[in-house]
Amino acid sequence: MRHFLSIAQATGEQLRHVLDVALELRGQRRRGVAHRPVLAGRTLAMIFEKPSLRTRVSFEQGMFELGGHAIRLGHEEVGLGVRESPADIARVLSGMVHGIMARVYEHRKVVELAGASDVPVINALSDESHPCQALADAMTLMDEFGRDLTGRTLAFIGDGNNVARSLATLCGKLGMRFVLACPQGYELSPMLADDLQQGLPATARVVRDPIEAVREADAIYTDTWVSMGQEEQAVKRRAAFKGYQVNASLLAAAPAWAVVLHCMPAHRNVEITDEVMDGPRSRVVPQAHNRLHAQKGLLAALLGGV
Ligand code: CP
Ligand code: NVA
Repeated sequence: MRHFLSIAQATGEQLRHVLDVALELRGQRRRGVAHRPVLAGRTLAMIFEKPSLRTRVSFEQGMFELGGHAIRLGHEEVGLGVRESPADIARVLSGMVHGIMARVYEHRKVVELAGASDVPVINALSDESHPCQALADAMTLMDEFGRDLTGRTLAFIGDGNNVARSLATLCGKLGMRFVLACPQGYELSPMLADDLQQGLPATARVVRDPIEAVREADAIYTDTWVSMGQEEQAVKRRAAFKGYQVNASLLAAAPAWAVVLHCMPAHRNVEITDEVMDGPRSRVVPQAHNRLHAQKGLLAALLGGV
């Protein structure tokens, strides 16, 4: 795996390898065992067109814990596609650092970075996908259900957005079932349909009724109804998603063992209630913590040859 732009581009085997490394590193950290400094002398450039808490901290802390270094480059200083083209930025950074991660609006920008880069490029969220989140989510599901997730069902309630798309593809790679409950017009994008045609057919299903979606779910997932960059559609979107809240009555329709996930940031009492978010079936905090461990697995594999 040279770059990590989407889950679709990785094989199930590559994803499992990254997750194995992540689990191993998490085990070492928990036992207080020092890591091998597999990224010593290595630097990651991190370009952000959008805000971030989890992604920024997990990458920067992850580089530090593996002996490397990270440089945060805000949009105002880099001007990805404004001050310089993504390709020129990648050509220059390739001669100075060992990896590039970017959080962007248009997905084509990470594709253009990767096309001109001699070092690995990681998609840290684009309007189309959020593969790093999906990696951490797989880890959280493995914590709950064991390493073999074959046949498990993930129900995503809400927008068929970047997070949903990466999860749908992940489910295909790991032999899971994926069901999205969303209002008409908010389904997974055609880009995912292309991915699905590359060998992941029967895994993604779209329904209108959230109750139908959760009935056989092992995990219930939700995300904001208004993603970064969609702020001007907020009123329309909140109206469209009314009825798609993850709350106690929805949870009551799910199997007793079903857990609740959210990539965060969460809009409490909008897409998810406090009661569910803070309740016994919520795994959202360990899920966020797994971003660190998953990122370390990815960085060790891509930049450290582990
Ligand atoms: N889940 C996630 O990517 O969070 P941030 O936007 O805070 O990085
Ligand atoms: N769908 C959200 C995810 C945030 C981590 C967004 O793109 O804003």
